Amino acid sequence: MTSFDPLAFRNHFPAFAAMRDEGRDFHYLDSGASTLVAAPVIAAMADHDTRLRANVHRSVHYWAEQATQAFEAARDTLAAYFGTPRAEIVLTSGTTQALNIIAYGLSDGLQTGDEVLVAADNHHANIVSWQIHAAAKGATITPIALTPLGQIDEDALAAQLTDKVRIVALSHISNVTGWEVDLNKIGSMIRAKAPNAAIIVDGAQSACHWPLFETALPDLPIDFYACSAHKMFGPTGVGMFWGRSDLMENMPPLLGGGEMITNVSFDGTGFAQPPTRFEAGTPPITQAIGFGAAVGFLTGLDHRAIRAHEVTLAATLAATLAAQPPLDTTILGGADFSRDRAPLVSFAITGCHPHDICQLADRSGVAMRGGHHCAQPLMGHFGLLASTRASIAGYNTPDDMDAAINAIKDAINLLKGT
Ligand SMILES: Cc1ncc(COP(=O)(O)O)c(C=O)c1O
Repeated sequence: MTSFDPLAFRNHFPAFAAMRDEGRDFHYLDSGASTLVAAPVIAAMADHDTRLRANVHRSVHYWAEQATQAFEAARDTLAAYFGTPRAEIVLTSGTTQALNIIAYGLSDGLQTGDEVLVAADNHHANIVSWQIHAAAKGATITPIALTPLGQIDEDALAAQLTDKVRIVALSHISNVTGWEVDLNKIGSMIRAKAPNAAIIVDGAQSACHWPLFETALPDLPIDFYACSAHKMFGPTGVGMFWGRSDLMENMPPLLGGGEMITNVSFDGTGFAQPPTRFEAGTPPITQAIGFGAAVGFLTGLDHRAIRAHEVTLAATLAATLAAQPPLDTTILGGADFSRDRAPLVSFAITGCHPHDICQLADRSGVAMRGGHHCAQPLMGHFGLLASTRASIAGYNTPDDMDAAINAIKDAINLLKGT
């Protein structure tokens, strides 16, 4: 039994009171896309923009110094949360930009004949970035096969690992099925059989509960990890990646401009050391401060209790949907949420388009996402073009699950004319 109280947890999220004031039903089941924003995050950003608005790393006046300190303090908070040196945390606009910076930088060392293995359950951000940057260097991009449930097929991966493999791109937690990759196990296997490979992990869906993994990022057999603040109770427009210094030192920057140089002349330009090298231009200052506040908030939570609560809700929703024969429902990844799984319930109902289900459910205030979830290869693996996804966070309650089930049943009845 968990002592976690989701209704008390809701008090940290002003959206609930705002929706109550508007008289709106509000069953927010789209946290896999973006979580709601926590009150301390909103307060930190408003305070910064009200009192200390200035650019960072430039001017020497009081406000600029304070802004720089607050911005760098956010980096410290992130480093502490993930257990990394602060110089190995690069602030970006989000996971997508992070993965593109990594793909561009690492692809510089690739040549024809090199192989890039990309797990087929990845979000497009960890597929297309390699297709653009690594393919330009002549490397071959090969998918890592999946089991019928959508997990990495470890035997197939083992057979693919050779010393020609230079990059392995993994998704820590699938944004469709919620399946979690055991980074220790898979990373160790890659290190043993493909010693020349750098291991890049998309952590967009796992970063919100990093303390659950009980490991500092540098202690894992991986080399890079990327995530976004807006999936961590923080703002949009900011994210980060962690990377090993020895690899980052040899990576060219994707973006050029202010801040990321040591000297500029028409005879040649020198690049700053990481992380600055990868942070060209004015960074998302207010958002980074909000990101720091979000991670400060996450640091104080009982992640084990929250995950237990979330997974109980997910399991109930999945089991209820799967047990309604008239609905003819497929739960992507299966209905078993008893282990290694985040609370993302993606489902397909024969004869009903996910967009229709979502639009009809929206009438009852049930917010879900329908579509390919930026994971078309994974959808193809399940023989689907799209699914409906209910993604659950700590502030969801059994009442939200009941509302979702009723809304889905009503939508099906309408769509099937039953
Ligand atoms: C697994 C995963 N990777 C990458 C992304 C892209 O994140 P962002 O849009 O914040 O760059 C998402 C967002 O949906 C995601 O779920």
